[in-house]
Amino acid sequence: MTQNVTDAKRQAIRDQFPSLAGDVVYLENAGGSQAPRSVIDGVTRYMRENYVQLGAGYALSQKCTQIVDEAHAFVAQLMNAGDGHVALGSSTTALLTMLSDCYRPLIKPGDEIIVAESGHEANVGPWKKLQAAGAELKWWRVDPQTSASPIEGLAELLNPKTRLLAFPHVSNLLGDIEDVAQITRMAHAVGAKVVVDGVAYAPHRAIDVSGWNVDWYAYSTYKVYGPHMAALYGSREAFSELSGPNHFFIPEDEIPYKFELGGPSHEGCAGILGLAEYLAFLADVDDPATLDRAGIESAFDLMTQCELPLQARLVSYLEDLPRVRIIGPHEDDASRVGTISFVHETQSSREVTEGVDKSNIAIRYGHMYAYHLCEVMGLEPEDGVVRVSLVHYNTMDEIDRLIEVFDALL
Ligand SMILES: Cc1ncc(COP(=O)(O)O)c(C=O)c1O
Repeated sequence: MTQNVTDAKRQAIRDQFPSLAGDVVYLENAGGSQAPRSVIDGVTRYMRENYVQLGAGYALSQKCTQIVDEAHAFVAQLMNAGDGHVALGSSTTALLTMLSDCYRPLIKPGDEIIVAESGHEANVGPWKKLQAAGAELKWWRVDPQTSASPIEGLAELLNPKTRLLAFPHVSNLLGDIEDVAQITRMAHAVGAKVVVDGVAYAPHRAIDVSGWNVDWYAYSTYKVYGPHMAALYGSREAFSELSGPNHFFIPEDEIPYKFELGGPSHEGCAGILGLAEYLAFLADVDDPATLDRAGIESAFDLMTQCELPLQARLVSYLEDLPRVRIIGPHEDDASRVGTISFVHETQSSREVTEGVDKSNIAIRYGHMYAYHLCEVMGLEPEDGVVRVSLVHYNTMDEIDRLIEVFDALL
């Protein structure tokens, strides 16, 4: 972390987001983030000037082909994909379901798949389905006392029969950051591949799939200040094992297209490209075309610097409330992200959230699709938790406004 964030920079960040100009306090960012001007402009410019299909010879079509190619290259750079591939799709759920379908023919009876109990259903359900092909499913357990997923529990499960290990980089309910590189080393030591759900991590820190040496890594672009799409990184070796689901006449080695059923949203790709401009602005890089890995890391460092004081204020406030139990780590430092969940001793999560809704502050309650996790934590999933999720463009004033409402409610 190298940068201090000035008030002027914070205001300049805020000014990039037209949807935040009104009175609403938006603290439901783990559900989906807001988009900066450059992303919105990318989508609208495309639809105004270039709304054609790719792959033909006329100039507009060639431009469309170029935009879609460049979006893949930009996301690959964002993920530090090295010589791996990035497939784009409509959602992480869709991409991981497609991935599980691709693994189905490779599964033999007796193969084992380990799935983290802390996972979002997008990285749980698709792997459960492989039981029908003979796979044995094993759970990487959560400790209900601490909400952590002890690494010793995983070590006991891994063995040469393990084919896949599916887990979240960050739980979208707990906010803790797992050590992906270490977990991946453990899986690789027994010959297993990892499928990492990076959705709740990607809005907060720079992705580094090459550094972590993961096999598969997915995130949703609509939670990282972009349009409603998602990306799936796979190493060259991981992709080479699989047969892609796209049409029969598309060659097997046409990756990622073989894994992009129907192709990605073109206007979405144009929007994704707009994110380069926003990251360049964060990193004080004058020309977005020159944004490199260092610039991307610098942009995400700045986001972290913006978030840390906000999450520290909220965590310490909630910790001091006698009838509130934080679900997740109690740390307020960079070992977590600003996704903070809690339950109240006497009020349901629904009651608390409905109380907050009236103040034009956007938060959420429920299981957040981390259904198994809620059950393990002894929570009734439909009521689940109250979740406040902040990102770098939120302000201390907004946290204070929420705390004022909590003061009256809790
Ligand atoms: C941690 C996590 N994984 C996966 C998903 C699913 O993403 P998508 O909506 O792109 O399918 C979400 C969405 O909330 C999430 O928070």
